[in-house]
This record gives sequence, structure tokens and C-alpha cells, in this order.
Amino acid sequence: MDKPKVVLGVSGGIAAYKACELLRRLTESGHDVRVVPTASALRFVGAATWSALSGHPVSTEVWDDVHEVPHVRIGQSADLVVVAPATADMLAKAAHGLADDLLTNTLLTARCPVVLAPAMHTEMWEHPATQENVATLRRRGAVVIEPAVGRLTGVDTGKGRLPEPAEIFEVCRRVLARGATEPDLAGRHVVVSAGGTREPLDPVRFLGNRSSGKQGYALARTAAARGARVTLIAANTTLPDPAGADVVPVGTAVQLREAVLKAAADADAVVMAAAVADFRPAVYAAGKIKKKDEQDPDPIALVRNPDILAEISADRARPGQVVVGFAAETDDVLANGRKKLARKGCDLLVVNEVGERKTFGAEENEAVVLGADGTETPVPHGPKEALAETVWDLVAQRLP
Ligand code: CTP
Repeated sequence: MDKPKVVLGVSGGIAAYKACELLRRLTESGHDVRVVPTASALRFVGAATWSALSGHPVSTEVWDDVHEVPHVRIGQSADLVVVAPATADMLAKAAHGLADDLLTNTLLTARCPVVLAPAMHTEMWEHPATQENVATLRRRGAVVIEPAVGRLTGVDTGKGRLPEPAEIFEVCRRVLARGATEPDLAGRHVVVSAGGTREPLDPVRFLGNRSSGKQGYALARTAAARGARVTLIAANTTLPDPAGADVVPVGTAVQLREAVLKAAADADAVVMAAAVADFRPAVYAAGKIKKKDEQDPDPIALVRNPDILAEISADRARPGQVVVGFAAETDDVLANGRKKLARKGCDLLVVNEVGERKTFGAEENEAVVLGADGTETPVPHGPKEALAETVWDLVAQRLP
């Protein structure tokens, strides 16, 4: 089988150096990558680097190898075009259909999925001109990955950073796997909670659970690859930030509730994949709890935590907002799942069986997605991303 053909467009920003790693990941995973830098990108990283890493000649203009008609052929034959970094200038050109160099010509001739990973200073990203260009590109079916928040060139920090190359690669992989399917979550805002809450007993101890956050992160990744703006509320996770997600770190169930309610205010869908502690210690000891000689330990009194899923289901922030819950069950999995779905009032409940070595921390998952409308969608044992894709399929069907 032929290797999938990827065009890596690089425009002129300092983050161009990160595109070298993206290129490496693409070639090492069996893609045939043609790099098309802009002239200003070559001021940051030279043609020799792109050419050596891709194994193809590199040119920025339409005037090289004219007999091969590269300004048309490169775009026409691609399975995916990814532009990383995409500068404000590149987004403007792409949105307006300008074609003054090889990359902009390629963007006009490509009929395959297009992924744009913008990187620029916060002011440039937030400028109405850029925001309108991004909206135009999304409306036309391009996946525009939201920039990350963090250190920018120099000492400033803010939104505008290029996400980590490994995470842009994940988006490319998902988009390629979806083939010609439209990014059906474009223009949507989705909220995903992930990980497990920790309820502190004292400054050094907590009650927690084994959730790794991998399923929630897979949900965030796949939503971004389907074009969504993603807010990921992450409870005690140690995973890299998915490209396209605004990551809000939290610790306890009460903090998770606050973050979810805030993000859900303008969300089209909320997926509660986090393992939330149902109880927390009634008192928090400001100093470390000491053992007392010869004496039995004091019992730990617990109080209930708010049920976030039930609360957002009962009081939807927006009409038509789709709410999804997860249920981890050890016995009578489906019957308990149906009862829980009714009790929580959500639209979909992903029920999976848990136990020793099952689900928690694993790379794979197996589940049944129950719908409030009576539907039952089994998801066979497979990667957590496959379950995530099914969840978004079911969410997309229910969005107004
Ligand atoms: N959940 C929540 N707030 C809580 C507890 C759970 O929002 N305080 C959400 C979880 O994120 C998950 C779903 O509810 O999406 C199911 O959680 P689970 O703990 O399995 O349900 P419980 O109501 O605790 O039911 P049970 O104790 O019978 O397992």
C-alpha cells in the first residue's frame, strides 16, 4: 500500500523549529511528507533541514520544477495538508484565497482534509481580523487547532503557543483516519472532565481514586480533531496537554464542580469522564494528623460531595446542551447503568465494567453507551480513542 501523502506547510514564526519534530513523527510513522515552507519560514529553519528530514526537495515558490506543475500537483495528490505553525498572515491568506507562493497555491488546490495549527502573540490571535479568518476557515471545513496557553517568544505568556508536536501529530493521525468525513464539531465548544478528584484529609494525605485521565484525554483529542474548541477540566492528571484543548487543572470535587459549571455556560456538550469522589472528609486538619501511641485511630467522618453530573443535567446552561456521564460498575453492569442514567438525568451514559487491571490506567476500553432515548451502543474492546469517537458520534447526532 502507498504511504499516506502529507503536506507539511510551515509559515514564518519562531515555532517553525517545532515543526521539525512533527515532521519526524510523521515520517517515522509511515507517512510520505512533502514540506512546503514559506520564504519567511526559511529564515527560522533552513531548507537543508526540511529536505534531509523529509527526503524530498524543498521549495517555497511556484517557479521551481515548473514542468511538474508543483503549485497544483502537491495539493491535488495530498491525503492531508497540515500547516504548523500557521501565522496570522497565513490564516489571512488562506481565508481569502490568496495564492502568492507554493504553500498558498497548495492550500487552494488541496481537496483533502486541512489542519491549521496557529501560533502567534495573544494580541494577534485575539484580533477580530484573525478571529474572523479562523471562523471562515472552520466554516469551510478546515480543522483549526486552538493555540495553547503558555510561554510565547520572549518573556510574555498567554494564548498563542503552538501545541506540542506530539499532540499536533495525534490530531493529524485522527484526521487522516477519518478520511473525507467533515469535522462535524467545528464551531462547537465541548467540555470534558478527566482524571480523579483528591479530597484532602490534611496537608499530606488525601482520599483519591485510580483514574488516570486517559479516557478523558482521548475524548479531548478526538473532539479537537473533529474541529471543536475543547475545555479540559483535569483532576490530578500527569498527561501532556492535548492540542486544541484549554486545560484547567483542579484538585477536589468542589473545585471540579466550579470549573465545569463555568466552562459549561457556553458549551454545546459536557462529558463527565472524571472519577469524582462521592464523599470528602468532614474536616480538613490544617496540621498533619499524628498517630497516638497505644490508641486506636479516630474514624474519618465523611460528608457528601455535590453530584455535578446530576446538577448540570437538571439545569442545562443552554437549551439542547448534550450531557454525557460515565459509570464504572463491577456487577449487573447494564441494569445498574440504566438506573444510573435515569437517576442522573443525562442524555448518554457510557457504562464500563471495572475491576483489577480493567479500565483504570489501561490503554484500552470496552463499554456500552446507553441513551436516554432507549438506545444501546456497544463499543468493542479497543483503544480509548475508538470509544471517544463513538461518544462524539452519538453527541453529534443529538446536537441541535
Ligand atoms: N459524578 C459527578 N459528581 C459526583 C460523582 C460522580 O458528576 N459527585 C459523575 C462522574 O463524573 C460520572 C458519573 O457521575 O460521569 C457516574 O459516577 P459514579 O461514581 O459511577 O456514580 P454514583 O452516582 O457515585 O453511583 P454509585 O455510587 O452507585 O456507583
